[in-house]
Amino acid sequence: MKKLTTSELREMYLRFFSEKGHSIIPSASLIPENDPTVLFTTAGMHPLVPYLLGEKHPEGTRLTDVQKCVRTGDIDEVGDSSHLTYFEMLGNWSLGDYFKKEAIAWSWEFLTSDKWLGILKDRLYFTCFAGDENAPRDEEAYECWLSQGVSPDHIFFLDKKHNWWGPAGMTGPCGPDTEMFFDTGKEKCSPECNPSCSCGKYLEIWNDVFMQYNKTAEGTYELLEKPNVDTGMGLERTVAVLQGAGSVYEIDTLSKILETISHHATISYTESDESIRAYRIVADHMRTATFMIGDPKGVLPSNVDQGYILRRIIRRAIRWSLRIGMPENTLSKISETVIDLYKDFYPEIGEKRDYITEQISLEEQRFQSTIKLGMREFDKLMRKFQYVQCERIIDGKAAFRLYDTFGFPIEFTEELARENDIAVDIAGFHAAFEEHQKKSQAGAEQRFKGGLADSGELTTRLHTATHLLQAALRSVLGPEVAQKGSNITSERLRFDFSFPRKMTREELDSVEQLVNEFIAKDYEVTCEEMTVEEAKEAGAIGLFESRYGARVKVYTMGAVSKEICGGPHAARTGELGKFKIKKEEASSAGVRRIKAVLE
Ligand code: ALA
Repeated sequence: MKKLTTSELREMYLRFFSEKGHSIIPSASLIPENDPTVLFTTAGMHPLVPYLLGEKHPEGTRLTDVQKCVRTGDIDEVGDSSHLTYFEMLGNWSLGDYFKKEAIAWSWEFLTSDKWLGILKDRLYFTCFAGDENAPRDEEAYECWLSQGVSPDHIFFLDKKHNWWGPAGMTGPCGPDTEMFFDTGKEKCSPECNPSCSCGKYLEIWNDVFMQYNKTAEGTYELLEKPNVDTGMGLERTVAVLQGAGSVYEIDTLSKILETISHHATISYTESDESIRAYRIVADHMRTATFMIGDPKGVLPSNVDQGYILRRIIRRAIRWSLRIGMPENTLSKISETVIDLYKDFYPEIGEKRDYITEQISLEEQRFQSTIKLGMREFDKLMRKFQYVQCERIIDGKAAFRLYDTFGFPIEFTEELARENDIAVDIAGFHAAFEEHQKKSQAGAEQRFKGGLADSGELTTRLHTATHLLQAALRSVLGPEVAQKGSNITSERLRFDFSFPRKMTREELDSVEQLVNEFIAKDYEVTCEEMTVEEAKEAGAIGLFESRYGARVKVYTMGAVSKEICGGPHAARTGELGKFKIKKEEASSAGVRRIKAVLE
């Protein structure tokens, strides 16, 4: 077995599939473009969904890549030996090209050939789909493994829960898969122990999905005209196998991050189970935060959507960093190590180095101030229990207030409460949380409608001015500026956008002047209908969250503005009058708000 580093495995995988006629494509953004159902790219196939459904890919029918992924569903498990919120997935795709025979033969060759990974054949186990009312037992995959010389007692047939891949409960490309496991050599936990068991004996390293079906909105499975192959090999896990590491945290990359943490902490990594967990959480979370902020479609901490997850991750890292005695404001140092480790393969994070560390420091500072206020609030809650004869439980609303207003993760509150022999109404907290989510959902839908109060002439003009304002902001402050919301009445426009600090007087003057120049040019406002993908290709900005294939309207104003938008708009920019900024202020963390009028 080859003892490869993380970079060596990436390189070897891409080279292997490139030799088999695959084009190497770059990792897509961590923020999905075509799929409104997920906040982050959770698998290599996500960015390729349109092509798995039949659209032609410009790079051909055989593709391979390394895709950045984020999964936060198991965040509470992070700190054990295998869970990570950020990971990389190595993948190879057949878009209506080869199928089971080649996919399985190549997986086998890559895993076992001495030229490639050279894993001992006896250490590998496989699972295939057992069949159900929707799709037959996958005898074909089974036969393909046998024909490679795999012994039948190394192959297990499992049900849909284990051997079917496709968006759970959703529509889209899906099909049976065959998974590859490495036997760690541990004792079986029971005579029935097999690769579906989570005792840790068998480690899943690769999954070949045979996408033969499209699950329709009605829940039926249509055979795809041309079946595809989608595979995913977990980079960190496979490196752990190759390096003989006991956990993903011991591989070359993550162990370097742990080492940097140890330079700042007062408690050592191996001091206790708790310190091991704390180090791993800080390492994992800072790696994830670095990639989120450094993504081409950068995320900033906020209270909704991706920004909310990022905030939670950073705050969780802060909390655990305190447990191992890390001083305030040192998390950005951990992020620097992450950047050094990954910048060669992901230049975007190297280029944004200062920006990323600055954003992490800002969030640390923000939470450091609210932690103190939150602790005061918490003490106030505690006083109530001293004097009043009542049930010793913090109600859900109060717990949610600590969470929402002071940034206390619920388990942080629970822990503090436990020290005072008080419980927390977790169900009540979740109810308050859901209530809040419903409200932000309503907000998101409103955003979709464009935040227009009506479609009268004045409102319409202000709407057109909003597009020019966004164009001017991007020109003056940089392309990181992205719309976070807008609200337009017949009197004024309000525009929220991502930007980390207060704008200077000079910047405000330049933006105002630029908008007035755009107005003076009297550009014609044109509208075209196209698919989301065409809009992207045309360089339009705006919310790409609509369903794949959906047609959208794109409004263009000269060469200065091209945006996906529902309209309506003025016919020419010359109609707008004089643009004046009335106010620039903070809207929420990392989001600024401009109020402006047309005179
Ligand atoms: N899409 C498959 C997975 O994520 C390969 O496991």
